[in-house]
Amino acid sequence: MSQQKIALVTGANKGIGYEIAAGLGALGWNVGIGARDDQRRETAVEKLRAAGVEAFGVPLDVTDDASVTAAAHLIDQHAGGLDVLVNNAGITGGVPQEPTRVDPATIRRVVETNVIGVIRVTNAMLPMLRRSASPRIVNMSSSVGSLTRQSTPGAETGPISAAYAPSKSFLNAVTIQYVKELAGTGILINAGCPGFTATDLNGFRGVRTPQQGAAIAITLATLPDDGPTGGFFEDDGEVPW
Ligand SMILES: NC(=O)c1ccc[n+]([C@@H]2O[C@H](COP(=O)([O-])OP(=O)(O)OC[C@H]3O[C@@H](n4cnc5c(N)ncnc54)[C@H](OP(=O)(O)O)[C@@H]3O)[C@@H](O)[C@H]2O)c1
Repeated sequence: MSQQKIALVTGANKGIGYEIAAGLGALGWNVGIGARDDQRRETAVEKLRAAGVEAFGVPLDVTDDASVTAAAHLIDQHAGGLDVLVNNAGITGGVPQEPTRVDPATIRRVVETNVIGVIRVTNAMLPMLRRSASPRIVNMSSSVGSLTRQSTPGAETGPISAAYAPSKSFLNAVTIQYVKELAGTGILINAGCPGFTATDLNGFRGVRTPQQGAAIAITLATLPDDGPTGGFFEDDGEVPW
């Protein structure tokens, strides 16, 4: 594998994912732009290239087995491997999400993308990550998935939700299981929270810019070999599970 780092960012056509790709690209990395919509993906790739980033499009729907398998094949063929996977793609599932009113189909859809999608993509990319000298996996979680904060009176944890927030708790739990299984492989695996960021996800009500939201993922993607693994981080430090 060449010295240049190769990354895949899922859901990189807009929002925080786009800025993670831009940030890694600015470091000279070759960045795969994982996105499910052809037009949105190509527009993002062109914009990144115009900004000097070495970006390549990766057709990717994280809920679709065949799409994910094809994405891994494309990356291996195009780039020859993968050093860093940023599992960023995510959905909220919309409203209502109060546990007494939520449609079970909403929960299934959110878990399929936010949790099973991460497992599907991670497992497809693992053979390439195992070949990397400094592999990293970053799972974009959310502090709303922190059970500690959810159960702390007065903590800011967003609206009551039976789908989105629990999907991030689930993702955190799965992240820890990967850490345990892959201990000793050299793969550093961490969860990150971008903070409340102005994107489509929340109707642009967030207070942070997408660039600010991308910062923690870029930090976790570029950890040194003796960096942490099995943690949950935001810009201010560790988030309690
Ligand atoms: N914004 C916040 O305040 C905030 C806070 C905490 C955590 N997060 C997390 O940060 C991550 C990025 O969120 P964001 O705010 O940047 O949201 P966003 O602007 O809505 O972007 C979400 C991205 O995920 C993609 N995506 C959704 N479903 C997908 C699928 N099945 N396959 C492939 N891509 C899919 C979207 O693609 P399309 O354009 O095709 O829909 C889009 O590129 C998410 O995991 C989110 O939960 C965000």
